[in-house]
Amino acid sequence: MSRVTLSRFLIEQTRSHNTPADLRFLIEVVARACKRISYEVSKGALGGVLGSMDTENVQGEVQKKLDVLSNEILLEANEWGGHLAGMASEEMDKAYQIPGKYPKGAYLLVFDPLDGSSNIDVNVSVGTIFSVLRCPDECFSQNDTLGEEAFLQPGTRQVAAGYAIYGPQTMLMLTLGDGVKGFTLDREMGSFVLTHDSIQVPSSTAEFAINMSNQRHWEAPVQRYVDELLSGEEGPLGKNYNMRWIASMVADVHRILTRGGLFMYPRDARDPSKPGKLRLMYEANPMSFIIEQAGGAATDGRQRILDIEPTSLHQRVAVFLGSREEVERVTGYHQA
Ligand code: AHG
Ligand code: MN
Ligand code: MN
Repeated sequence: MSRVTLSRFLIEQTRSHNTPADLRFLIEVVARACKRISYEVSKGALGGVLGSMDTENVQGEVQKKLDVLSNEILLEANEWGGHLAGMASEEMDKAYQIPGKYPKGAYLLVFDPLDGSSNIDVNVSVGTIFSVLRCPDECFSQNDTLGEEAFLQPGTRQVAAGYAIYGPQTMLMLTLGDGVKGFTLDREMGSFVLTHDSIQVPSSTAEFAINMSNQRHWEAPVQRYVDELLSGEEGPLGKNYNMRWIASMVADVHRILTRGGLFMYPRDARDPSKPGKLRLMYEANPMSFIIEQAGGAATDGRQRILDIEPTSLHQRVAVFLGSREEVERVTGYHQA
């Protein structure tokens, strides 16, 4: 059978599922930007892209050069095409306004331009995460400015979500709400090729991912659950579990999409004002949409992540996602 490129997949999707042409264009543009980011990431020290800037983002994190560069690549690629009403990013305090010289479109694009920044300088997988929402009617104020409120929609309203992972292979994982497809970048041809047609997260697993160094700060249900995982065959769960922690959410989620597992970044008592580390709009929501579309589950310990009504662009959330049985178990412990 001939190879199915991302472009062909999207065109066939338009025919079979009525995917709008402007959404198709949006995904193509994001994919093109990810190719460019992949290229920049791969240059490493030769491209002068390693290391930090002298700046901090809105969350008080020191920005890496690649955080800033990836953000610029995504903005530039997406601002002129007429498919977007606005953008928001981990690296920008406020919503990004489409310059007045360009037409505006129906969608909002939210992204984490470079996820796993702490891994850039050590040559470990990083990625880009994105979420697509429809812009509500009348979301522009009188002076034609797009406000933050337009973005504050629960994850169930996402029309598409995906991530690119820049690892030994560059891959693009995508959902349009009808399963999850995986595309591998063919570097000779410069195109993403469909290589993973029907991705399913196994419902049970013996592998978990958590940053154990925070153990003393977790809440009781997470303490209990991880104790049980660590006690292995002799413990109440009756089996031995293995652990992985890459510190790039894209890489941990990618492993889970490939062979199952449970990813946890629980709420942390160090700063009670922050309900977790990860951000709802451009980390938890798109990843939860993808995981659910692959048959897995995602909660904040108390409720389904996709049902959360967001209150701010950069709000944080606790995350438990992956193989359904384990997500249900740890979520149940929060209710006990
Ligand atoms: P980002 O690089 O976009 O700020 O995200 C990093 C996130 C996520 O990718 C990862 O799972 C987590 O932070 C790692 O946190 P620790 O450094 O606390 O392990
Ligand atoms: Mn991130
Ligand atoms: Mn980031």
